[in-house]
Amino acid sequence: MTNKRTLIVANWKMNLNTSQASILLHRLHERIRIHRDIEVVLAPSMLVLQPLSVQIDRRKFRLAAQNAHHKDEGAYTGEVSFTMLQDLVHYAIVGHSERRIYFNESLEDTRDKVAAALRNDITPILCVGETEVEHKNKETRQVLHDQIVTALSNVSSSEIKDIVIAYEPVWAISTFGGKLAKPSDIEPIFEYIRMQIRELYGPKAAKVVRVLYGGSVDDQIARGYLEIEGCDGVLVGGASLNYHKFAGIVDSTYKMLNEGKS
Ligand code: 13P
Repeated sequence: MTNKRTLIVANWKMNLNTSQASILLHRLHERIRIHRDIEVVLAPSMLVLQPLSVQIDRRKFRLAAQNAHHKDEGAYTGEVSFTMLQDLVHYAIVGHSERRIYFNESLEDTRDKVAAALRNDITPILCVGETEVEHKNKETRQVLHDQIVTALSNVSSSEIKDIVIAYEPVWAISTFGGKLAKPSDIEPIFEYIRMQIRELYGPKAAKVVRVLYGGSVDDQIARGYLEIEGCDGVLVGGASLNYHKFAGIVDSTYKMLNEGKS
């Protein structure tokens, strides 16, 4: 690990109305301690971002959008742009497999959203990952290569340090089956992702870009992923809706850092 801050992201997906989200945030405020090397990010639904932004203790949490439209403004009924989110969020999840699979978002859509986020001073959390069939066919590296190269094709070498990549194998996400990935099996994938960045932007960029893991992470198993060489945090779905489990993930990160993972 380098001296990058470990990133723990809660993706609440399409769950929690405004009052439920407010209660969960309240509980997390009580339970989570500030640690200078840990950054805790909450990604609630679009509707809830505004009220949470008023309630949130910014020393403890940052906000992320789960999605946005790649155009800054215009006649796109029902959409919200990154420009509109600029004052509300630090991060935006881009290219999540649920967006790619349920909403048919293409590699190019993801590329345009990455560019739109950066243009609006929002850090994209670019999600990449192979499906179960691709995994079985040993196509993981090719899939990740295509997803990463396309998504970053409009990202300059000065912008790359602001990108976060989340490796979420589709087959490990609870939505799509939730098979547990063994940390030792996916460690080489982290190396591969960094190699991609190194090839595109050089060794310095490959070091600073944060790479996260996501896929059925909970408080019991988070540490196994956080200990992977080159893993800079986790992106949590289901378990992030439970304050006890999510705070437990932050606790194990805290413990691991205090034990001095180097
Ligand atoms: P689960 O933790 O529910 O598997 O979801 C992972 C995810 O999709 C986070 O973005």
